[in-house]
Amino acid sequence: MKILNLSFHAVLCSLALAAGRAQTTPVATLPHLEKRGASTQLIVDGKPYLALAGETDNTASSSLEYMDTAWPKLVKMNLNTVLVGIGWDWVEPEEGRYDFILVDGLLAGARKSNLHLIFLWFGSWKNGLSSFVPDWVKADQQRFPRALLKNGKSVEVLTTLSEANLQADTRAYTAFMRHLREMDSGQRTVVMIQLQNEVGLIGDSRDRSAAAEAAFARPVPPELLDYLQKNRVTLWPDLRTLWEAAGAKTAGTWQEVFGASPATDEIFMAWSYARYLEHMTKAGKAEYPLPVFTNTWLVQPQDQGPGDYPSGCPEPLTIDIWKAGAPTIDFNAPDVHLRNFSDWAGRFHRPNNPLFVPESYGDAGGAANAFFGIGQHAAIGYSPFGVNNADRWGEHRPGSNSPASTEIENLPLARAYALLAQMTPLILEAQAKGTIAAAWLNTQFPKQDIPLGNYVVNVDLQRNRRNPVPALGYAIVISVGPDEYFVAGHDVQVTFTPNTPGPEIAGLARVEAGRFVKGQWIPGRRMNGDDVVLEYDQAGAAAKNQSGSGLIFGADGPTVQHVKLYRYR
Ligand code: DGJ
Repeated sequence: MKILNLSFHAVLCSLALAAGRAQTTPVATLPHLEKRGASTQLIVDGKPYLALAGETDNTASSSLEYMDTAWPKLVKMNLNTVLVGIGWDWVEPEEGRYDFILVDGLLAGARKSNLHLIFLWFGSWKNGLSSFVPDWVKADQQRFPRALLKNGKSVEVLTTLSEANLQADTRAYTAFMRHLREMDSGQRTVVMIQLQNEVGLIGDSRDRSAAAEAAFARPVPPELLDYLQKNRVTLWPDLRTLWEAAGAKTAGTWQEVFGASPATDEIFMAWSYARYLEHMTKAGKAEYPLPVFTNTWLVQPQDQGPGDYPSGCPEPLTIDIWKAGAPTIDFNAPDVHLRNFSDWAGRFHRPNNPLFVPESYGDAGGAANAFFGIGQHAAIGYSPFGVNNADRWGEHRPGSNSPASTEIENLPLARAYALLAQMTPLILEAQAKGTIAAAWLNTQFPKQDIPLGNYVVNVDLQRNRRNPVPALGYAIVISVGPDEYFVAGHDVQVTFTPNTPGPEIAGLARVEAGRFVKGQWIPGRRMNGDDVVLEYDQAGAAAKNQSGSGLIFGADGPTVQHVKLYRYR
């Protein structure tokens, strides 16, 4: 696979480093993001990388002894990447005394299991709260001031508007990044960093501390106003509407520019968090320039306004504010703990924001999400939350999509990851070429028509079986020639409709089931007869310009098939 612009990237990075700190490993070989054709991909060891990931519980990584029990489960889930937390209080127990024994143990454990890591820096904020800051920070409220709520109460939340808070977290974070450079730039186990976790103020739409009130009364910074003007056409529509409804002003206070509403408070908070994290990101990258992202708590249907969800988090309304305020952060990622995954994936996959999903479901719905994110939105990767508990995911829970099985390797997501791992070279190439798409189906959305290559690929929930129509189906479709596709799917049936001039009906010339080994397609069974016939009503099918045959993917998947089509009338 050709890696575009690598040498240019290498030169740029070497120059950047020469201006910065000494480093033994050339930066071009470090994990980085790269625009490759239609998508932005994570490059690890010089090659595009697809993160088939999982995130552990918040504190699993605070005990190496516990992690010894978890690593084998993570391997059985077919992960190649694990997201693990590092609490500020775990590594700086006394001010200025750092202890990275946990970090080293996690690196060793991951390497032994042949896994990559993404560290989550639980610093000033974890789910909006400042619970992972060291006790010497917690106990000194004078020096490390907190946010104040409308009711006059302070909460266990550091204010964004304190230089002492910012400097203390930055010192610890840069020490951590320096340590990673020293310990890992040779082996490159760590591929990205998540900075903080789900930031934003809970309990009020904005911080009411004296510093925050003063900042809120000041003019909106010119950098943000410039961004709004330069990106007016592509701004998130709700943000643009707010700004334009207030007169699209190019100067003024927050309320003058965006109007007086809780949304303006949220925009102000977003700017404030973004500037704090931008400072930290820059300082961390000066030590060790790994890709950095933030994760976002999504607005829930029952939320009345900012403060019910963390005000200032990079949600769709404020993602442009984050882009303007924190340009060094590589992307903002959604934690999708809601079932309408396809909507959220689309909202976060934007021209200036590649999709990566650090938290979501691990059940059968998670398998569908992984397929959809990676196939339809060129995701860098997918990661269910609480993957260290995968051995319990098979237990039957009411409402769960998981089968009652305790075999980790048979869980829907483990099977989906196994197939995605086989198909990774093809998927990454297709993401760059823009020749990949995906379907995410349920009983509400049982059908999707995907224009791809010379055909519209019609994906339906599988109907060709005696059981009731399945609750869930998913597929990835990759166009590999004018009349040729690879389709990987679960509980779906797939037909093709010509999308270019010529004969109207697509017939199956040849269909193979099979597998990929080291990137090579190894055909297995030739699929025909009952494997492909969807209906024998030939007159009815022909009247719809259909052959009556298609690809059928059962409930035992996901599996992959290779199809060559021909056309007739
Ligand atoms: C979202 C947070 O980001 C995670 O750290 C964890 O607390 C989960 N919620 C719990 O569901």
